[in-house]
Amino acid sequence: MPEFQTSPGMRDILPPESARWRRFVHVFADVAERAGYGQVISPMLEDLGVFQRLGDATDVVTKEMYDFVDKGGRHVALRPELTASVCRAFVQHRPITPWKVWYTGSQFRYEKPQRGRYRQFDQVGIEVLGADDPYLDVEVIALGWEFYRALGLQQVRLLLNSLGEPDDRARYVAALQAHFEAHLDALSPESRTTLQKNPLRVLDSKRPQDAEVIAAAPRIADFYSPDAAAHFEAVQAGLHALDIPFTIDAKLVRGLDYYRRTTFEYQGLTLDSAQNALGGGGRYDGLVESLGGPATHGVGFALGLDRTLLACDDEGVFAPPVTDVQVFVVDTTGGLEAVRLTAELRAAGFSADRAFENRSMKSQMKAADRSGATFAVIVGTNELEAGTVVVRPLRSDLDPASSAEKQAGGQQAVPRNDLIDHLKKALP
Ligand code: HAM
Repeated sequence: MPEFQTSPGMRDILPPESARWRRFVHVFADVAERAGYGQVISPMLEDLGVFQRLGDATDVVTKEMYDFVDKGGRHVALRPELTASVCRAFVQHRPITPWKVWYTGSQFRYEKPQRGRYRQFDQVGIEVLGADDPYLDVEVIALGWEFYRALGLQQVRLLLNSLGEPDDRARYVAALQAHFEAHLDALSPESRTTLQKNPLRVLDSKRPQDAEVIAAAPRIADFYSPDAAAHFEAVQAGLHALDIPFTIDAKLVRGLDYYRRTTFEYQGLTLDSAQNALGGGGRYDGLVESLGGPATHGVGFALGLDRTLLACDDEGVFAPPVTDVQVFVVDTTGGLEAVRLTAELRAAGFSADRAFENRSMKSQMKAADRSGATFAVIVGTNELEAGTVVVRPLRSDLDPASSAEKQAGGQQAVPRNDLIDHLKKALP
């Protein structure tokens, strides 16, 4: 075993998987930018306080943060999510509202690693700051939905809930607290601890022991103010108008504390229930204020790249793209010709690779086959003297153009000066 390996919960993403990641972000950027969102790139490291404003009742903040004191004595943390950073950036730069942004990048949470749960994981997401309109919630939710469709995913379920206005939520939390306290003996020890910090999170418990008390708990819908109820109705109407199917889940509280009114989650039906949240989000009116900014509405989501790709694997969609080169140069004259030829080919727009270390013809041809290239361009002493190169098809799925070529196994001697034109015709 090598002396150094990646830390638990952290991974190297190697080719061709890395190309798939890049394409994933590309597809997301396309969906977001077509809807008027611009990319925001913020630092991975922020003042610890930025994330502490996410609330002290969430594990993400209290237990899972990678925080340390830097050499200048600042207490900083690697970001566990990007919504707080986007709000911090909003307060710092005061852009014109509504501010519609998308982002991508790594997040860090000290979690127990398992399939689909890592300590460094990637997200793509969007946030909109400064607009209070239920149809904006609909736009946000629909963009996530559209993105999954663009990847080819079918087995995705949308869960929707509203946590009401802050006052509704506060009254609901008080009622929940009273209910759970009245049934304290029936709750699991873990839920009793959770109750002290945040009664809402008790609803999240999947422990069988808690199921009965949770089922009998008060319902958030009974606490909505008329405004919150109207907002929720409008969100549903908008989703119906777009034919986006959803399920209302009154227990959907999500892991972060900043949500007000709309919350939602996209679940991957092929994934294990502990890690089936492909992404989620909601409204977080109030977060900007808590970071020192003006009262500002906010709504957005983040989608887990790692998990979404696992779901793609399960459904057999969005495979890694083919990144093979088009042409492989084989040079048995010492290698300098390959220096010129690969440069020429790349300048003409082809993807081209070559072998190094002046290997034998046989070994270079093997490398050419392995590269996945469509053609080998071969130059030996005879070709060098004659000012030609040999173009040899490497893939049996390509039918040689002429019968003379067929006889030569599709191989053709081409004047060196005609090589680019020849390949342009052969590789449209
Ligand atoms: P979140 O639910 O904490 O929300 O994370 C969003 C997604 O990130 C999850 O649904 C999951 O796919 C992925 N994820 C979270 N933790 C891990 C992990 N340890 N390993 C792999 N994937 C993970 C947020 O982060 C909010 N900032 C979303 C938001 C944006 N709300 C409003 N705007």
